[in-house]
Amino acid sequence: MTEKQIPIITIDGPSGSGKGTICQLLATKLGFHYLDSGALYRLLALAAKRHRVALDNIESLAVLAGHMDISFNMNKDGTPSKVLLEGEDVSLLIRNESVGSDASLVAGYPEVRAALLQRQRAFAVAPGLVADGRDMGTVVFPDADAKIFLTASPEERAERRYKQLIDKGESVSLAALVEQVQKRDERDMNRTVSPLVPADNAVVLDSSQMTIDEVLHSGLEIAIRNGIQPQQ
Ligand code: C5P
Repeated sequence: MTEKQIPIITIDGPSGSGKGTICQLLATKLGFHYLDSGALYRLLALAAKRHRVALDNIESLAVLAGHMDISFNMNKDGTPSKVLLEGEDVSLLIRNESVGSDASLVAGYPEVRAALLQRQRAFAVAPGLVADGRDMGTVVFPDADAKIFLTASPEERAERRYKQLIDKGESVSLAALVEQVQKRDERDMNRTVSPLVPADNAVVLDSSQMTIDEVLHSGLEIAIRNGIQPQQ
C-alpha cells in the first residue's frame, strides 16, 4: 500500500468535544493506528520548559520540535498506553491544563507547525489512520478519505474537560477552567496559521446531546460511507 492509498479519517474540533475518546474507539473498531496530534504540541511545550527554551524563542522551538525524543507506546488494540519524552513517561503530566495553554501558544508559530508536519504524516501507515487534532483535515491530511469536525456547546466542553482533569487527580476550579479553555479555543480559532476550522468537505457533528456510542456510530457510518473498510 503506498502512502497515498493509506485510508485516513480525520477528526478535528475544539478541546472537550470528545475527539480523543471517539478517535481511539474508532481506531480500535477499524483496526487502524491513532495519531493524537495535540500530544505533540503538548510534548513540545513540556520539552521547552525542561530545556529552558522560552516560549517566544521561535527558532529554538522549531529546532526542538523537529528533534525532540518522543515516542508513543501503544496497546495491542492500537490505543495509546504511554507517551514518552526522552524515555520518561509523561502521559499524565502533558494533560495538565497549563501545559495545554503553553501548547496552544507554541502551536501558533508557523515554523513550529512546519517542523511537526512530517512527524505527523509519518503516522500514516497501513492498515490506516485515525488522526485527531485541529488541522488534520485542512493541512496535515488534506486528501483524507473521511473528515469529521466534532464540536459541542462551550458549557458541555468545559464540563467534560473538568471531569477528565478531576479523574486524573488534578485539582482545578470549574470557573478557572472555563476561562482557560475559552482562551485556548479563541487562540486556536483565530491564529493565522492552520486555524481551527472545519475542512470544506468535513461532516460537522455536534456531540452536545449525543452519547459516546451515538457519536461512534455516526463516525463509523461516515467512514464506511467514504469507502473505509474495517480490518478483519
Ligand atoms: O488536543 P489538545 O487539547 O491536546 O491540544 C493541545 C493544543 O495543541 C491545542 O489547544 C492547540 O493549540 C494545539 N494543537 C494544534 N493543532 C493540532 C493539535 C493540537 O494547534 N493538530
